[in-house]
Amino acid sequence: MGEMAQIILDGKTYEFPVIEGTEKEKAIDITKLRAESSYITIDNGFGNTGACTSAITFLDGEKGILRYRGIPIEQVTENLNFIETSYLLLHGELPSKEDLEKFTKSFIEQMPLHPDMLNFFEGYPKDGHPMGLLSAMVCSLSGYYPELLKPEPTQEEIKAMAAELLAKVATISAYTYRKSLGQELVGPEPDLSYVENFLHMMFSTKEKIYQIDPTVVSALEALLILHADHEQNCSTSTVRMVGSSWANLFASISAGVGALWGPLHGGANQKVVEMLEDIQKDGGCIDKFIARAKDPNDKYRLMGFGHRVYKNFDPRAKIIKKRLDDMFENLGITDPLLDVAVKLEKAVLKDDYFSQRKLYPNVDFYSGIIYKAIGIPTEMFPVMFAIGRMPGWIAHWKEMKGNSKSKICRPRQIYTGYTERDYVSMENR
Ligand code: CMC
Repeated sequence: MGEMAQIILDGKTYEFPVIEGTEKEKAIDITKLRAESSYITIDNGFGNTGACTSAITFLDGEKGILRYRGIPIEQVTENLNFIETSYLLLHGELPSKEDLEKFTKSFIEQMPLHPDMLNFFEGYPKDGHPMGLLSAMVCSLSGYYPELLKPEPTQEEIKAMAAELLAKVATISAYTYRKSLGQELVGPEPDLSYVENFLHMMFSTKEKIYQIDPTVVSALEALLILHADHEQNCSTSTVRMVGSSWANLFASISAGVGALWGPLHGGANQKVVEMLEDIQKDGGCIDKFIARAKDPNDKYRLMGFGHRVYKNFDPRAKIIKKRLDDMFENLGITDPLLDVAVKLEKAVLKDDYFSQRKLYPNVDFYSGIIYKAIGIPTEMFPVMFAIGRMPGWIAHWKEMKGNSKSKICRPRQIYTGYTERDYVSMENR
């Protein structure tokens, strides 16, 4: 028998197996805890709870390690493009030249939307948040591919849905922006790459084709790759949770978009830039904002700082800052918001409040400044995160489907309401 953990409850000792991952992380498997003892565990925010085993992404928050399918994020960002990264996450291996060509071709071919889907954009308020529309459009894709909506799709059917989703999300996102401007839509071009097509659909008009700059493409590829997966984060856990009821992929991912929208998760990149603008409007004095963030009676937080898992640095933030510096230098860009951000980061890193709580810049701190420099409007920043996270969400959903032991997610609770009491009629209340 392998290593066992003991829990003593009401004087009785219960034993539970310890399981170990390939990177030697350990977990106590308490699957049988309630059946044997009638106790459950409470873990606010699931900080100590493993919801599944997974072979997709490894993350060590103390050491600042992030690996996709075993390959360090630094190598992935340096050597792969977003499509290759998606293939790696979805299939578990790097593609051969032929596989990659086939995969990329199928992507580009599937980028155009069904003509009926264009009507959705008409009905959405011009200034409605793009994440609301993205979530609705992703879910509505289910209506266009009913043949794929079996409770137990084959791996081939999952691949077909994945291609539809990954391809179409770029088109949906770009069209959302065009419609918010009241402008005509420009369709994808077969000769452009995925990222080039996204930029083309965002910024080209019928009259003027957007000039695609390789520096911008490379920065955007890197950003999408850095967001592509992050193991059991809030939105990925949501996708898994919804999918655990055998809900279809589109419904599951649509729920993931909703979870990502929150400012503590993928919505933070939008909030970072809004915070930096607030600081700028206020005369650039950061002390007031830092003081608010430290005040225990104020819910205000410095957006772009802190992470549930990373406790020394976020490796993604390091890569993003380097990309930002390269892009700004190559294109001769300056942005006063960047000066505010650098000043804020320096002050935070020197401040005991933040170091004691291990709060460092996260992936969202500098990403918004790059998006802004590309010309992407602030409200679209969480959408950019969603495009990037798409392969990770799908890979997790696919992994869950491939595991015959997956169960419906159904946590328990400790009830703290009234104990039994009698109904009181209206006249006696
Ligand atoms: N500014 C000020 N104080 C903070 C911050 C912050 N950004 N983040 C955490 N704290 C404090 C918090 O008030 C608490 O203090 P105390 O111990 O005195 O009560 C302590 O640090 C621990 O915070 P927590 O909320 O228990 O930590 P968590 O692991 O539950 O939350 C987080 C992680 C990312 C939600 C949080 O750090 C945060 O709200 N950050 C700002 C939003 C943000 O940038 N989110 C993007 C995260 S990266 C993208 C992604 O993967 O989602």
